[in-house]
Amino acid sequence: MLNFDVVNPTRILFGKDQYQNLPSLISSFTKKSKIMIAYGGGSIFKNGVFDKVANALPNYEIVQFSGIEANPQFHTLMKAAEICKKEEIDFILAVGGGSVIDGVKFICGATKYKGDAWDVLLRKENCVFSEAISFGTVLTLPATGSEANSGAVISRDDLKEKRTMGGPLFFPKFSICDPTVVASLPKRQIANGIVDAYMHTLEQYLTYPTDNLLQEREAEGILSTLIEIGPKVLNDPSNYKWASNLMWCATHALNGNLRCGVATDWTTHMIGHELTALYGIDHARTLAIIAPRLYQNQFENKKEKLVQYGRRVWLLTGTEDEIAKEVIQKTEGFFNSLGIETRISAYTSDHKDLASTVQNRFQERGWLKMGERQAITPSDVFDIVANSL
Ligand code: NZQ
Ligand code: ZN
Repeated sequence: MLNFDVVNPTRILFGKDQYQNLPSLISSFTKKSKIMIAYGGGSIFKNGVFDKVANALPNYEIVQFSGIEANPQFHTLMKAAEICKKEEIDFILAVGGGSVIDGVKFICGATKYKGDAWDVLLRKENCVFSEAISFGTVLTLPATGSEANSGAVISRDDLKEKRTMGGPLFFPKFSICDPTVVASLPKRQIANGIVDAYMHTLEQYLTYPTDNLLQEREAEGILSTLIEIGPKVLNDPSNYKWASNLMWCATHALNGNLRCGVATDWTTHMIGHELTALYGIDHARTLAIIAPRLYQNQFENKKEKLVQYGRRVWLLTGTEDEIAKEVIQKTEGFFNSLGIETRISAYTSDHKDLASTVQNRFQERGWLKMGERQAITPSDVFDIVANSL
């Protein structure tokens, strides 16, 4: 087992009717009676979540910030940071999916930052968020795990960039995770959520064996559960049993637990982020496109775990090579069965120079050795993308 260092301070309030806890939760982190509530394009008004939140906070003056986009945009978030400074906000409640929660993480850092916050996302030397205001979340879309981790991904469409940030300051103080929100989700978003959680698990599992038997079983448990419930929750999103299991799987897939003592990859995510930056393809769909091709490219390096995954999760039999090949097909087939297309050409016909564009971006950023064995080079990235068209 590899060494590890783990902390997760986020308090999770899981289940129905947790909103009445909001005043006591918030008052632990701000003495002010004015807070910001930040949200996206308005789904929280249609499904009643905003009313539940507002009704729980009658004694608070609420500054609303609306319009955080899917793939939250730097310029929008900077407007929110300006409002926080002007209104002297020191607590934000993020009400939404991964984009709103990620956006709020960035706003919390940018509100306290003196320079150009884009430099932080570019990871320029000495440009870091060293202070941040506090935030909590009300999750409305099980997918990213952002409600229980300290990472965020921020986009800039004007530059066709999508960049990551994070650090201990960006754990939510608390997250309310009410699975009944799944009932109002469009099928597209439910399918995205299943795939994103599945891929977070694979990124921390499909590497090489590290003798962490518990962590491997936990990952396999999440994968098996998602395979079992995925079609059911898509079919019947109001079913609490399926919805609550999806939500808990998604939180567990990226709350820091699965990475303990194991090797991790994350290259599928890094390539996927470029596809979203260039074409706006939904995050989870980029992963479904890239992962099968990345596993083919890294077949020998990942073979031992591919075989374990095939045997334990998909109950495959045969030779090691047969199982390892078949499980890649099973994985892609699972994504397809959820209604997710796994080829770039299904999303855009404008992909002539794509493979070299993504390769160059990896090269320029100095991402020359990726993956758990540092074996994925920019030229592999070219092949992976070219094979994904
Ligand atoms: O904006 P509104 O109107 O709220 O609509 C949203 C949005 O259009 C809608 N939605 C959310 N909850 C709903 C709902 N519609 C009806 N009923 C509900 N209950 O769903 C749409 C998509 O929302 P979004 O937040 O963008 O989706 P998701 O949660 O999949 O987040 C994706 C973002 O998270 C990042 C991705 O890169 C992407 O930017 N990620 C963040 C991670 C993290 N912080 O750890 C890890 C992930 O790998 C990922 O990169
Ligand atoms: Zn993801």
